[in-house]
This record gives sequence, C-alpha cells and structure tokens, in this order.
Amino acid sequence: MLSVQYPIIQAPMAGGIIPPDFVATVSNAGCLGSIAAGNLPLSKLTEQIKTVQSMTPHPFQVNLFANDRPPVPDVTAVNQTLNHIREILHIPPIHRYDFTPEASLKDYVELCINLKVPIVSFTFGCPDSALVNKLHQADITVIGTISTVEEALIMEQAGVDLIVAQGYEAGGHKGGFTEAPSIGLMALVPQVVDAVSLPVIAAGGISDRRGIQAALALGASYVQIGTRFLNTVESTAHPLHKKAIAEATETDALYTQSFTGRTARGIQNEMMTQLAHRDLPPYAYMNIMTQDIRAAAKKQQEVGYMSNWAGQNIRASKTLPLDLVLTELTAAFH
Ligand SMILES: Cc1cc2nc3c(=O)[nH]c(=O)nc-3n(C[C@H](O)[C@H](O)[C@H](O)COP(=O)(O)O)c2cc1C
Repeated sequence: MLSVQYPIIQAPMAGGIIPPDFVATVSNAGCLGSIAAGNLPLSKLTEQIKTVQSMTPHPFQVNLFANDRPPVPDVTAVNQTLNHIREILHIPPIHRYDFTPEASLKDYVELCINLKVPIVSFTFGCPDSALVNKLHQADITVIGTISTVEEALIMEQAGVDLIVAQGYEAGGHKGGFTEAPSIGLMALVPQVVDAVSLPVIAAGGISDRRGIQAALALGASYVQIGTRFLNTVESTAHPLHKKAIAEATETDALYTQSFTGRTARGIQNEMMTQLAHRDLPPYAYMNIMTQDIRAAAKKQQEVGYMSNWAGQNIRASKTLPLDLVLTELTAAFH
C-alpha cells in the first residue's frame, strides 16, 4: 500500500533532527523516509518537501500534528519554576508568551496537497473525515497514529488507510489522542490487528531484525523505527542527545510531561526531575514555554535541560552510519 520495497518506515521525528537528505536516503534504500512537520513553519516545510522530492523519485511521508488547542491556561506558577531554570542557564526571564499558532492543520494539509506529497500521517489527534476525504481526492495515502484499540476504531471510522499502533516502549511523544494508559507493543499490535481491517504499522522499541520479525509475526504489515534512526552519524540530533542514548540503559528512558505538557519518553535528566509532579499547562503551551530553555541548553552543551527523546530499546544503541543501519534493518528480508 505504501509502494516501498521493505516494510520499514523511518519514524517522523520533529525537532530538526532528521534533515531532508536523510529522508531521501531512507526512501532511496527502499524504505519510507518521513518529514516531521510538527513545529515547522510552512515555509521551512515547503523547502524540505522540495528538497526531498529533488533527491528521490520514491515515496516519502509528511507527518502532521493534529492536536486540539485547549483554552489558554494560567501559566504563572509554572513560569516561576521556568524562570528559576533560566537563571541557572543565565538566560533572560520571560513574563509573557505568544501562543498564537503559526498556521492551522488545514494550511498544512493544503500545502501537502499542492506539493503532491504522496503520504500524509497524523499524530496527537484524529483528523476529521472531511480532511481525510480531501487528501484522498488528491490521491494521498493517509496514516493515523493510535495508542489503544479504541483509538484505532475511531481512526478507522475517520477513513484513514493505515494505522500506526504505537506501544508504550516508543521514544518521543505518545501519539494517541485519549487519556488512556499506554499499552506495550506486544499486547497492542495483535489486538489492533484483530479490531480493524486496515494494515497496521508497529512502532515502539523496534531496533533490529528481531524486533521487525516479531512485529510482523504479531500481524503488523509495517514497522516504524525512531530511536535507531536518531542515533546515527547523519541525524542532526545534538551530539549530547546521541551520547545520552549510547550510554543509557532501558531503565533510563522515562515518561515525562516536563518539556511539552504532553506525555513523551526521554532520557531522565534534571529538567524532568525539577518539573515532576507539577500541574503543567497542556501541549502546546508548555512546549512553547520551554523552547528558549531547550535552545539555550543545546547551545551551552547542558544536557540536563535538553529533551533527549528515546525509546526503551537502547542498551545496545551505538551511533552508527545511516547506511549501516539501513543494511542491518533491511537484512531482515534477505
Ligand atoms: C526524537 C523523537 C521525535 C519524535 N517525533 C515524532 C513526530 O514528530 N511525529 C510522530 O508521529 N512521531 C514522533 N515520534 C515517535 C515515533 O514516530 C515512533 O513512534 C517512535 O520513535 C517509535 O519508538 P522507538 O523510538 O523506540 O523506535 C518521535 C520519536 C522520537 C524518538
């Protein structure tokens, strides 16, 4: 359905860590490369799509955030803690934030249609069926991300073509859109496969051919791999992020809301500890509020205040060249 040689998807990873030539290399290797549009201005996304299109004739996907925007919360109390962290990093305090979104989900969809992107995926929310129809009319394949069977059924109802079943092990943000707890991939995949009549993409903790084969044995049609692709020489993730992954073990990658107000898995650090158990503003407010802190931390090589997203399957993760990772992963099919 995705017209790829191997059923392997390089997970969309927002945060400017997967450059367009990386995406094209993955697609040229017979897998599916992904551009993460989350938090990317429309102009930057346009550039990235055009670059990928100039570098590969093969399919790739663009991933969009489909989250709701709750009303603007009172952020005073949390901001005091953030200003304390700013003091530690020697950056100016902030007292007012601009929460205005850069563009709407419809604008991003429109752009993908205009630029003839072949595949569009959604995370953090379920697109409404009118939006899915619009993409279908433009001949675009649509993927939705879920964390539970109930969400998979809602996604199927909305008319998507494939479903990413993201397990508890996964690095980065939880892609589902209800408050339900996360399910381990081993339990999630077969239950989703049984419940829906769409192809299922397994995501979370898959890093080598054993994981790929296990996911396919559970009924998945494709696998989506994040952390293994992040920890490559060619990813533009911060070197300390890669080092943290290379040195971590499976018990270091924990769930937190501290950086963005939305549950995400990353390597335990100071920022996660300092904001644990706080009543935090929801995504995208907290995400916007911590942007300057994360940017300063990166500049200052201060790993304690960076968001070092990673999944649980990291004990053996070395920073490898992308072509080697692709060779090892595709070897599952030789
Ligand atoms: C750094 C990072 C950023 C991510 N950003 C996104 C994103 O923008 N959109 C998305 O759908 N998933 C995102 N994810 C989740 C991945 O799509 C995928 O579910 C996850 O990486 C799978 O788990 P693994 O990291 O153990 O392979 C991200 C994951 C990581 C590690």
